[in-house]
Amino acid sequence: MRIALAKILTLKPDVLLLDEPTNHLDVESIVWLEEWLADTFDGALLMTSHDRDFMNRIVTRIVEVANKTVTTYGGNYDFYERERDIRREQLLASHKRQQDMLAKEEEFIARFAARASHAAQVQSRVKKIEKIERIEIPAEERVVRFTFSEPPRSGDDVVVMDGLGKEWPLPDGSVKPVFSGVSGIIKRQSKIAVVGVNGAGKSTFLKVLAGQTEPTSGTINLGANVELGYFSQHAMEILDPKKTIFETVQEVMPLANRGVLMNLLGAFLFSGDAVDKRIENLSGGEKSRVVLATLLGRPINFLILDEPTNHLDIRSREMLLEALQSFAGTVVLVSHDRHFLRHLVDRVLEVDHGEMRVYEGNYEYYLEKSHHFAH
Ligand SMILES: Nc1ncnc2c1ncn2[C@@H]1O[C@H](COP(=O)(O)OP(=O)(O)OP(=O)(O)O)[C@@H](O)[C@H]1O
Ligand SMILES: [Mg+2]
Repeated sequence: MRIALAKILTLKPDVLLLDEPTNHLDVESIVWLEEWLADTFDGALLMTSHDRDFMNRIVTRIVEVANKTVTTYGGNYDFYERERDIRREQLLASHKRQQDMLAKEEEFIARFAARASHAAQVQSRVKKIEKIERIEIPAEERVVRFTFSEPPRSGDDVVVMDGLGKEWPLPDGSVKPVFSGVSGIIKRQSKIAVVGVNGAGKSTFLKVLAGQTEPTSGTINLGANVELGYFSQHAMEILDPKKTIFETVQEVMPLANRGVLMNLLGAFLFSGDAVDKRIENLSGGEKSRVVLATLLGRPINFLILDEPTNHLDIRSREMLLEALQSFAGTVVLVSHDRHFLRHLVDRVLEVDHGEMRVYEGNYEYYLEKSHHFAH
């Protein structure tokens, strides 16, 4: 992602079109890009983004595409949210006034329709209400509703690590050391963020936790009754493009009947014929929702999530955040979404030059202690 951005930025374009530029970027890069776009770049910028903080720093106008209409708001994302709610309230109020007025007119018409003496009045009122343009209330945008089934309780020590280390073998026969000497215990119900710059080794650490790859030194042991679910950073790429959404979830839950699967998919906003769409025709966010459905539909008590918010829109992120906040199990996650981190985690593991540092506090605490950023 950083290479792709660097290529574009060095062209010094007059107009930049960016489609979710912050996906996969680490916080340092996001902050750098934020500053560059806000202070250095003097061309025009049109972008899509699901990163609230990023948008708030940069944009002066929001164009909302919803309910088959395009609406413009002059301000940043926070302004847009407030203004959208105000406009919706106003619309609801005028809709109610109009409904009351129409009801009165119709009552008049019904009462006097049979009387010759009022024929002209009835006629003109019928015409009047025919001409009135009806105020329509757009359906509330639907959001993902993740609901975890109560997971079986795991032992108090979910993961025990002792001198854990990982090196990747390289094609030229040498090795790339990623981290070493990691010891510690992941306790039940902790919510842990793994942070670090791009390439630091976050995904590697999560793969070791998830048993996707063997450690090269030390040991890792899962506690009793740990049911693990893993969302990889490239989870979407392992979906079979030719399969339908329904076939995809059916494959991971072969014992569930059609009703159960349809309910699950409904919670992830796929209903009716939509479940027969092929994976290859889905948007990025839709693919993420399919993967999350295959993961969260099962009774798991230890979630390992590698950038699960990539491609999800802001409302779906909010829902995922709320679901994870109330999740009774244990969570280890990588995310570059500062809003998400701030409101979820109670512990931060930082991977930096092969070392793993533990911050026994929330994300704000980590920012304070690590002195990485001015803000
Ligand atoms: N399968 C692999 N074989 C060889 N090297 C690898 C492999 N996977 C990762 N690496 C290397 O290990 C280092 C850590 O990669 P990793 O994917 O864990 O980083 P990350 O912190 O998740 O980065 P990002 O924020 O970009 O996702 C990188 O230098 C990467 O090039
Ligand atoms: Mg990664």
